[in-house]
Amino acid sequence: MTQFSIVVPALNEAGNIDLLLTRLSALNFAPYSFEVIFVDDGSTDGAPDKVRAWRNQSNVHLIERRDKPDLTAATLAGIAAAKSDVIVVMDADLSHPPEQLPAIVTPVLNGNYDVVIGSRYVAGGSTENWPLYRQLLSRAGSWIARPLCDVNDATSGFFAFRRELAACISNHARGYKILLELLMANQGKLRVTEVPICFRDRAQGASKLSLSHQQAYIQRLITLAGGTATLNTAGRFAAVGLFGALIDAVVFQWMISRDAGLALAHFISFFVAAVTNYTFNSKWSFREHHAGYLKWHQFGRFLTVGALALLLRGGVLALLVYVWHIPPLLAIFPAIVATAAVNYLGSAFYVFPSEKDLPSLDIRWRTAAIGIVLFAILLRLVYFGLAQLIPDETYYWQYAQHMDLSFYDHPPMVAWLIWFGTAIAGNNEFGVRIGALLCGSITLGYLYALAQNLYDKSTAMRTLLLLAILPLGFGSGLLMTPDAPLVAAWAATLYYMERTLVAGQRTAWLGMGIAFGAGLLSKYTIGLLGIAALVFVILDPTARRWMQRSHPYLAALLALLLFSPVIIWNYENDWASFAFQSNQLLTDGHEFAVHFLIFHILVLLTPIGFAAALLALFSNKPSEDRPFERRRQLFVQIFTGVPLCIFFIISTFETPRFHWTGPIWLAVLPAIAWMIGQTDQVSAFARRIQASWRLTIISCIFVYAFVLHYVVLGIPGMPYHMFTEHYFWRETAGEIKQIAAEVKHQTGQEPIIVGMSKWSVASALYFYTHGDDPLDIRSRNMFGDSGAMYEYWLPSQEAADRPIIQVGMKRRHLERTRTKNDINHMLDHPGPIEYRVIERYGTPVRRVYYRISQGFKGVS
Ligand code: GDD
Ligand code: MN
Repeated sequence: MTQFSIVVPALNEAGNIDLLLTRLSALNFAPYSFEVIFVDDGSTDGAPDKVRAWRNQSNVHLIERRDKPDLTAATLAGIAAAKSDVIVVMDADLSHPPEQLPAIVTPVLNGNYDVVIGSRYVAGGSTENWPLYRQLLSRAGSWIARPLCDVNDATSGFFAFRRELAACISNHARGYKILLELLMANQGKLRVTEVPICFRDRAQGASKLSLSHQQAYIQRLITLAGGTATLNTAGRFAAVGLFGALIDAVVFQWMISRDAGLALAHFISFFVAAVTNYTFNSKWSFREHHAGYLKWHQFGRFLTVGALALLLRGGVLALLVYVWHIPPLLAIFPAIVATAAVNYLGSAFYVFPSEKDLPSLDIRWRTAAIGIVLFAILLRLVYFGLAQLIPDETYYWQYAQHMDLSFYDHPPMVAWLIWFGTAIAGNNEFGVRIGALLCGSITLGYLYALAQNLYDKSTAMRTLLLLAILPLGFGSGLLMTPDAPLVAAWAATLYYMERTLVAGQRTAWLGMGIAFGAGLLSKYTIGLLGIAALVFVILDPTARRWMQRSHPYLAALLALLLFSPVIIWNYENDWASFAFQSNQLLTDGHEFAVHFLIFHILVLLTPIGFAAALLALFSNKPSEDRPFERRRQLFVQIFTGVPLCIFFIISTFETPRFHWTGPIWLAVLPAIAWMIGQTDQVSAFARRIQASWRLTIISCIFVYAFVLHYVVLGIPGMPYHMFTEHYFWRETAGEIKQIAAEVKHQTGQEPIIVGMSKWSVASALYFYTHGDDPLDIRSRNMFGDSGAMYEYWLPSQEAADRPIIQVGMKRRHLERTRTKNDINHMLDHPGPIEYRVIERYGTPVRRVYYRISQGFKGVS
């Protein structure tokens, strides 16, 4: 009897048939026997006769279709005619070597797999003789399918499967993507493997792959992802968009000509265009998907997408106008194009999604993850160089101006990154923050890999979604503080911890040593992961075996080696920074502050995130007979729980800093992401949380876009001065520079400017006044206060008979030191404390306090 059927679609393959059949029949397949079914689509080169010539000799059959030629339809016809339950599909042109058939069909025959793919894109697979453009095309084709379909070669034409699986393929399926259809229709239910093959380009005849096939392929992918992607829709959408863009540009030009300012002009023009667009799109472009009357929830979604596009385009506009000095009247066009893309994708996938064959929840989450992660990245890319630095970043920039092995209040990584970034991009916001972006991408990569190792690809994608939208992830990937490299190193260390302790990989210890060492160079908190690892090893017998081997110790040694710059610096500086770190914990006012810790966590994780984290940590009870699930849960619990406990204990006697717990949540994100995807056996509470994620995600991303637009361009109708005195140092420093110039003009002497805070005011002034004609800036340690690194950079507290300009964020900062010493008597003829109102584009943003004195009598 026949054990499997080889279906060979063929169109004008006369030159190949004899050779194919010769090679197939040369295969020794005992004890199996097979049939070969050629499906011809009206070939005109005599191919059917070639097949017929073989018919009486062996198990060769011919189907001659009379319908419109189509690869998928032909293949399905062949499958329908097959006599056996196992099918192999292969090309007729010998691109798929018949000799590799056994490797592909055997795993299905013996029941180990449901689908086996002859894959060009796994180790050992290759393509030969294909022109470069075909290779690139094919690579791109399989690459864009990867987010949806978990195989490397989803467009392969050489595969084996159990016949009943084909029943799910729609009769409407067309073109070159039958494997993709097969996999997607049965997703999550299949055991799939890929066997490497060597694909050789045909020697005879020509390829039938056309542009329309490729287009159909992309459309089909969009539909499978839950989008609406008929060509009509895109065309009509583009027509409406063009009209909308015209209105947008005209209104914008008009507003600019009336001196409205960038923000107001682009807001108004956007709204006028958006209302027009929505009307046309709902009545025309997406009319099939629109009820015909105004659906509030759909309109709400439309507004959400529009608002996000608008807030993003403010950044594009600012980048073009402020950084590249393109006139606003021209800059509006690229800005419109950028937002049209966001609007189109948002409309196709979110506002007017495909309703006919809605993909599974799992796929919809994947689509959402891709869209939102990309948007969050785009937002960061557009704004990171535009938003002014916060004082902390200017302080770390000061580190980089005094490069050293380490620093008093932090290890050196942040300084090295800023040094590197500013060496490339200059001493500006771009240069300072490039490092943070880099760290953000490293975090994304490692966390994805960790989640994929612990759970699966869908979970990994949702993990990135969480990382992108939760404040802890968005913040650390944007602002250049020690937390940026810390979070990256933390994610990397977690990844290697899992590889070594859970998966038992020896070589991962090397990565662990490097990641942990890099973490120590970023911020000492990463040490908590070391403690967590110890606890894990004590509790987990399998991991405990590592204790008797040399790898963990070598990794620790490697980390210590990387950490040695910090040790050398401390050795040379009386262990100042170690003393500082432990003092900070032990001496600063003792006070119960657990409530602060919880409040901070609620901000870093959002309330839903916090609830989900607790649920993931405590309610998830894997069954005892699944050792991997048990160990995975232990891993998540220990690597989140141990650092968390330590922070809880510390906060019973010490006020925690806001961002402290940021990185510890990285380990629980995969578990949260996994729970989001669970559908059965979910408690009512967990279901509630699942349902709340949508709102949390949208609110978070909206808030970031809003805040970034606000600090860079402002939001029309919203005053600025609700902002604090901590920000807008560019304008503030400009004002101080002016005051200094006035003083110099009046007295003929170069004034000394003293930032009246530990380090923030002085650093911000340094950053925003640096250049040809630098000011003489000191920090508050001049008056006997602590000044962190300024005690090393500018230790002088000696008297000076030059004018003194104190600058502070608050009035009281100018009068007393932190230890409540009166500053007045250290000053020679102190003037009154005054303030100036700082303006930005003509609107008041903040105040800065200052006082001019004739001289400094020294610390007394
Ligand atoms: N019956 C029928 N009807 N057969 C067809 C039709 C059709 O409309 N179109 C193509 N075929 C047959 C060809 O005769 C050949 O046997 C096989 O399908 C593959 O077609 P080619 O034209 O040789 O495709 P290719 O070599 O460019 O593409 C290969 O790589 C793609 C991925 O990059 C194939 O393996 C594709 O299946 C694969 O998707
Ligand atoms: Mn071919």
